[in-house]
Amino acid sequence: MAYETLIVEIEDYVAVIRLNRPEALNAINAQLMTELAHAMAAADADEQVRCIVLTGSDKAFAAGADIKEMATKSFVDVYGADLFGLDAEAISRVRKPIIAAVAGYALGGGCELAMLCDFIICADNAKFGQPEINLGVVAGMGGTQRLTRAVGKAKAMDMHLTGRFMDAAEAERSGLVSRVVPAKNLMEEALKAAVKITEKSALTAMAVKESVNRSFETTLTEGLRFERRLFHAMFATEDQKEGMAAFLEKRQPQFRDR
Ligand code: CAA
Repeated sequence: MAYETLIVEIEDYVAVIRLNRPEALNAINAQLMTELAHAMAAADADEQVRCIVLTGSDKAFAAGADIKEMATKSFVDVYGADLFGLDAEAISRVRKPIIAAVAGYALGGGCELAMLCDFIICADNAKFGQPEINLGVVAGMGGTQRLTRAVGKAKAMDMHLTGRFMDAAEAERSGLVSRVVPAKNLMEEALKAAVKITEKSALTAMAVKESVNRSFETTLTEGLRFERRLFHAMFATEDQKEGMAAFLEKRQPQFRDR
């Protein structure tokens, strides 16, 4: 499918999905969200893809939901269409690992989109924020929930109530991002991380993602039981035999996703 708001490139088993609305700092309109959910699902189903990198431009990952598009909408419009609901859920169902490579602004829906990914690598010029309160709304794509889980109540409340931005250093300190890199190296570092993931068993990577995500949905006891059962289940795979044999034989494993 040809996209108008995205550029998708697949190389070395990595799908790079680039948000591409430079005229609006990659503001997220309904078309972009629908195209993104489609591109993510396509990458998830594509055997040539083992990891996905979601990125924007040097200036903006995404400056939030498209305010021009939303400004005149009514409750009936947005509730009736469940604005952002279905597409965000579709992205959260992708089973392959997704890295967000964030430079510049990741605000409102942009910050929420980054948090929908499995981890965030950001450039040293990144700025995160949930400034929806300035527009008379609350976050609508997971910000009050995911930011709180990522950085804790104190910072999440501060960000959502004051609308202030968090710079890259604070984002790393708070646990919102996994690494900060110089802006000029952002894609190189994100792709290096992605390629590392492509070298693992895709089956095991999927299980890792499923198990970490389960920790947000359940009690500790149930989460630990889920993890242990998954760990036990991995012993039914050829990749477990190969991974452990390769360690003992002091060679690189050749995973076959079985
Ligand atoms: N929606 C629509 N257009 C946007 C936009 C947005 N979220 N953010 C930026 N743009 C547009 C601007 O209107 C401008 O377009 P024009 O040239 O046609 O006027 C263009 O992008 C460049 O933006 P600025 O001139 O404002 O650039 P700047 O460098 O001076 O400021 C900024 C950058 C601080 C990011 C500023 O653009 C800004 O504050 N943007 C809005 C951020 C925001 O409030 N995001 C939350 C949206 S609500 C939301 O996301 C709800 C949700 O949870 C789902």
